[in-house]
Amino acid sequence: HLNYTYQEGEGGIAEALGLCEHWVGKDDICVVLGDNLIEKNIAKAVSDFKQQGRGAKILLKEVHDPERFGVATVHSGRVVEIVEKPKQPKSNLAVIGIYMYDARVWTIIHTLEPSDRGELEITDVNNWYIRDGSMTYGVLDGWWTDAGTFESLHAAAGRVREGGANRVD
Ligand code: G1P
Repeated sequence: HLNYTYQEGEGGIAEALGLCEHWVGKDDICVVLGDNLIEKNIAKAVSDFKQQGRGAKILLKEVHDPERFGVATVHSGRVVEIVEKPKQPKSNLAVIGIYMYDARVWTIIHTLEPSDRGELEITDVNNWYIRDGSMTYGVLDGWWTDAGTFESLHAAAGRVREGGANRVD
């Protein structure tokens, strides 16, 4: 069963997510950005989130170009801050486009104001959960890439091709 909706303009990931509220209701959700590709799977992270019971969970990945992403600062096993596309990143831990939230996410989205780039930022949602003390994180195993530019789409296709060529099943 597949539902879909249409986001007019570029109002941000959090705005797009807000359009899904009436389908989800009180359930927990896992949001996966359509341009994010991963080598392996997120089964362990999802089951950890179910155990957690409330709050949110994000997945981090070390990258060589963190300034392109939301960047997490981690202290003593907790994410203390995420900065969206920092000019001077404090770490090389990118927040990948797979997010898990409890049903408070809808109320949080309603409180957001557009950022400097005119979008409702998913990073602002994530920072809300960090301030609430209910954000956890995992580190993604295997490669991750976004495919939102021609360059990254080409690189992603190469990765998928390599993966296919190496499969033995
Ligand atoms: C978005 C998020 C960013 C995240 C990235 C992952 O970036 O805002 O925090 O790291 O997805 O792909 P955008 O696609 O808006 O550049």
